Amino acid sequence: MSALAIIGGSGFGSFPGLEAQERKQVDTRYGTTSAPLVYGLLNGRPLWFLARHGPEHQLPPHRINYRANIQALADAGCTAIVALGAVGGIHPSCAPGVLCVPDQLIDYTYERAHSVFDDEGAGVEHVEFTQPYDDALRRALLAAAADAGIALRDGGTYGVSQGPRLETAAEIRRMAQDGCDLVGMTAMPEAALARELGLGYATLAFVVNWGAGLSDEAITMAAINAQIERCADEIGRLLAVLVERRPG
Ligand code: HPA
Repeated sequence: MSALAIIGGSGFGSFPGLEAQERKQVDTRYGTTSAPLVYGLLNGRPLWFLARHGPEHQLPPHRINYRANIQALADAGCTAIVALGAVGGIHPSCAPGVLCVPDQLIDYTYERAHSVFDDEGAGVEHVEFTQPYDDALRRALLAAAADAGIALRDGGTYGVSQGPRLETAAEIRRMAQDGCDLVGMTAMPEAALARELGLGYATLAFVVNWGAGLSDEAITMAAINAQIERCADEIGRLLAVLVERRPG
């Protein structure tokens, strides 16, 4: 049976409704994970969960040990990852409150350990990354959303910024010109590492603010947190249907 993992981002330090059966702090050749891996049952169906920013949301995006996180999930037997991500909206149709499964990425990050092919003399594989997201998993998310009666935007380009600061208005204008619809801080190197380790990977993005300069209102953490709370119920319901529908 293929094992599914959810990586929780901002607002998802734990997963609502998941009955934990096992928690394990894992050490990998890259070091330790952001938080203990949680294995449990969601409505009786098996699921792994990992809090990307740590149990206390203490890790900023550029300090996350992405390699340890993805390696640990692979070692645990996970074959597919749904990564939750709070994002800013850039495309006019990506207003706060919109849920989206992006189909493309542009990586603006730097100085992150971003590959498992990092040891001199150990060889390298140049993984295919034309389509950075797993199409079957994206389609399963879209089908689950349709079943649950939840609007989910199909496709979009996720621009990954370095953070932890938010962007300038000019940076968002440049990202819009580049074709980015969304901006977030964590999809890379996560997506590429999943590909290198042979795991299916899809992002379920939820828009929590307009990108910098696209609205007259200042971007505040209070407003972002309020929007995360407003999205949480739909995300929980959508993922419950996804897990329910998985074969096995
Ligand atoms: N920029 C980058 N990352 C984000 C944003 C943003 O505006 N909102 C939520 N995550």
